[in-house]
Amino acid sequence: MASAHYTIRPGRASDATELARLHASIQLQGATGGKPHPGIAAWVEGLLTGHPTVAPEDFLVAEETATGRPVASLVGLRQNWSLAGLRLPVAQIELVGTAPEHRGNRLTERLFTALHEQYAADGVPLQIIEGIPYFYRRLGYDYALANDGAAVVPAAALPATEEKTTSPNGLTVRPATVDDAEALAAIDQRVANSTALTCPRDALQWRHEIAGRSSADLARRVVAVLAHGTDIRGYLVHSARLSATGELLVFAAACNQPADWPQAAGPMQAHLTRLGRQYQLSAEQPFTGLRPILTPDHPLIRLSPPGVPRRPRGWYVRTSDPIDLLARLQPVLRSRWHAADLRWPEPTMVIDLYGRAARLDFTDGELKAVTATRGTTSPTTDPNTHAAIPPSALLQLALGHRTFPEVLNNWPDCLPRDPLTEHFLTAAFPQVPVQIWPTN
Ligand SMILES: CC(C)(COP(=O)(O)OP(=O)(O)OC[C@H]1O[C@@H](n2cnc3c(N)ncnc32)[C@H](O)[C@@H]1OP(=O)(O)O)[C@@H](O)C(=O)NCCC(=O)NCCS
Repeated sequence: MASAHYTIRPGRASDATELARLHASIQLQGATGGKPHPGIAAWVEGLLTGHPTVAPEDFLVAEETATGRPVASLVGLRQNWSLAGLRLPVAQIELVGTAPEHRGNRLTERLFTALHEQYAADGVPLQIIEGIPYFYRRLGYDYALANDGAAVVPAAALPATEEKTTSPNGLTVRPATVDDAEALAAIDQRVANSTALTCPRDALQWRHEIAGRSSADLARRVVAVLAHGTDIRGYLVHSARLSATGELLVFAAACNQPADWPQAAGPMQAHLTRLGRQYQLSAEQPFTGLRPILTPDHPLIRLSPPGVPRRPRGWYVRTSDPIDLLARLQPVLRSRWHAADLRWPEPTMVIDLYGRAARLDFTDGELKAVTATRGTTSPTTDPNTHAAIPPSALLQLALGHRTFPEVLNNWPDCLPRDPLTEHFLTAAFPQVPVQIWPTN
């Protein structure tokens, strides 16, 4: 069918029923045996009718011109992440789907093109997606962000738990209420100012997570708080039921202060274990273990009983403009060079991305500006170029997914001019811990 048969348009609140029906009949069909998925339908309806950060026009719809009906769509969930305290606008793409009878018409490709144009215009530098292996590479995405990979702790390896809910150090874990929203937002703000990559929520978003979703919503999670008396010291976010394989999933865990972790991990693990056993009774399904959707370096994991290792997964990430990303990172680069006591001895540093180049301007050794310029034909031999870095490697460096030495080991075409440049770029791009529970 020719592309003239379809129109790409933004979503509308009035699409809720149709889009819920469309996605319920095409997403996660393996889990329902081909029947409509009620969790998907409830999620789509929730996103289109009363989500604190999603507007109907965040959906893009391919409409069949003849019938006016939506036959394909996706949604970009806009959110502000924090990289070492720097606000980074991100869009997570979800609910990509085309009705079976309309597949093969490049509708997904057209929807992504329209979405990417919109983000370029709106200044959203990063898009992320989790999904069909390889498919999104064709649309400009690359694995550039760690996701998941912490070991599963089998139920048998979890400590026996008594019914008492207060630990010897006075910390308790209890279900969150909407009254905890401000305290949870304050914890997110504090954690956002650490060195990690995080997705902080404000109080409105926390209220939505705690009490705003329908019980069928596939994205509904349970929030629990770590409390010391009336003082909220941290939180835990886990699944509302056991998975098909009997696992309790953990999506996020945070402490107000890093120093609280050694006391917090025990009560958090005990709470999750108790819940897993309760769910086993109510669901009449065996509780097989805890499955954290966290990276292995997360503090809760480092303080947990050892489990069965799993291969890490990743987020596909895309940026339309790596130089813009580098320019946004200026405050982070400045503070990293400052912390390493490094001052660049020349007025500029030119990083060529094999096409375009980033010009970093310095005054008295301090970074002052990052601007895009034309690259040279042969950056690796050009005397005014300090480093040549492929754009895909720069994306990985910018997000702290790979350090500069790792990039040097894996990208033979990443070429710093001299040891001093290498030293500066190594200090500029350390590994960044990922503590992302995306907004959806
Ligand atoms: C994946 C999906 C959205 C593709 O829709 P579409 O509109 O037909 O996609 P396009 O026409 O733009 O396809 C472009 C290419 O992707 C390929 N493709 C389609 N589905 C694919 C899949 N599941 N895995 C790998 N490649 C796929 C097509 O074969 C086509 O390849 P070609 O260029 O070599 O011919 C659709 O198959 C679908 O709705 N699947 C079920 C829901 C789903 O899995 N969504 C993704 C969740 S992450």
